[in-house]
Amino acid sequence: MRELAQRHGTPLYVYSAATLAERFAALRAAFGAAAHICYAVKANPNLTLLARLHRLGAGFDVVSGGELLRLQAAGLPTDGVVFAGVAKQPWEIAAAVAAGILFFNVESPHELPLLAAAAAGGGRPVRVALRLNPGVDAGGHAYISTARTDTKFGIGLPQAGAVVEAIAREPRLELCGYHVHLGSQVRQVEPYRLALDRVCEFVDAAAVRREGITHYDLGGGFGIAYGQGEPLDVAAVAAAVLPTLTARGWRPVLEPGRHLVGDAGILVTAVLGEKRQDHTTFLLVDAAMNDLLRPALYQAEHPIVPVVATPLPPRAVDVVGPVCETGDFLARQRPLPPLPRGELLAVLGAGAYGASMASNYNSRCRPAEVLVDGDRAQLVRRRDTLPQLFQNEVDLHEA
Ligand code: LLP
Repeated sequence: MRELAQRHGTPLYVYSAATLAERFAALRAAFGAAAHICYAVKANPNLTLLARLHRLGAGFDVVSGGELLRLQAAGLPTDGVVFAGVAKQPWEIAAAVAAGILFFNVESPHELPLLAAAAAGGGRPVRVALRLNPGVDAGGHAYISTARTDTKFGIGLPQAGAVVEAIAREPRLELCGYHVHLGSQVRQVEPYRLALDRVCEFVDAAAVRREGITHYDLGGGFGIAYGQGEPLDVAAVAAAVLPTLTARGWRPVLEPGRHLVGDAGILVTAVLGEKRQDHTTFLLVDAAMNDLLRPALYQAEHPIVPVVATPLPPRAVDVVGPVCETGDFLARQRPLPPLPRGELLAVLGAGAYGASMASNYNSRCRPAEVLVDGDRAQLVRRRDTLPQLFQNEVDLHEA
């Protein structure tokens, strides 16, 4: 790790190809060969990781034209892609129709005329799955809980019947499935079963809701441990939903993001110094909220460990970065030993929603990213350079 940090600098994201493959294999074993596992690109859209996941057998869940373009830029097939998103734009719909994706997850009636127009332009029917909002509270942080009826996501069951009928009236659209995404970092099995039960009840109420249905997309959200408690038992989720899906002839589609890449990544950061203020000891490090936003945004707790163990006794410290906000912390009151300047810390569970949510706030460069595969370490994203940060700004002399 020291060598990687020396070669590429810090803060540095480091990913493990072995963990990625292990997680994918576990999900495949739980859900079986028939399941279509669509990796949620938003969790970590690095092109090399996308290519690795494709090689493992993944399709992809995208939520923007940009994510679709990433797949195309990586030279990956798009026929296994599902496209969700509550406010898709006409150009994104047209691009996905042209790419020939598996299906669209329709979240709002306003999409139907856009999809029909794109289908007419593309000269072939477009497959859609309806994203239902079953009104299930799957727990977790409010910002990432999506299947309660007070969120913007999906179509509530009382309104969904009319949307199915509107799709049935549109000859260029084919309803091929239903989609439910409960939210993220879900640790309980029960919400997955409850959501499926509600969808079945909805479907059984009218023949038009059943015709042509081939897929049930149970979304993602599979929680990982982050060093506390148990991760979601994905085999138990499979056991809870597969009998119903098999009985109905619905192929399972999954959209895991965090489950596949979360534990496959760490953020390596170097100690810059230490400072005591009032009763708090601050450990100053070179990674900040712009590199890993989760602690600041969701009060997420990532385990943090020294890269080289030290025998010195730990004391509670706030691990903070250089960004000028009190909310810029990686951890608060965390037991860590005293560490001299230059020592490295690893923030664990940082593979999902770490690099993908990084920003240039405070005119800081987003970190480099490295993929480790056996004894080989490959740079998969160069660190931003400072001139890149303002290269899109207008020419000062013309302004
Ligand atoms: N499918 C849909 C429709 C989604 O909206 C999401 C995530 C996923 C799948 C993948 O969820 P996962 O398996 O990764 O939990 N930035 C937040 C997480 C936001 C998740 C948004 N949607 C975080 O850092 O916790």
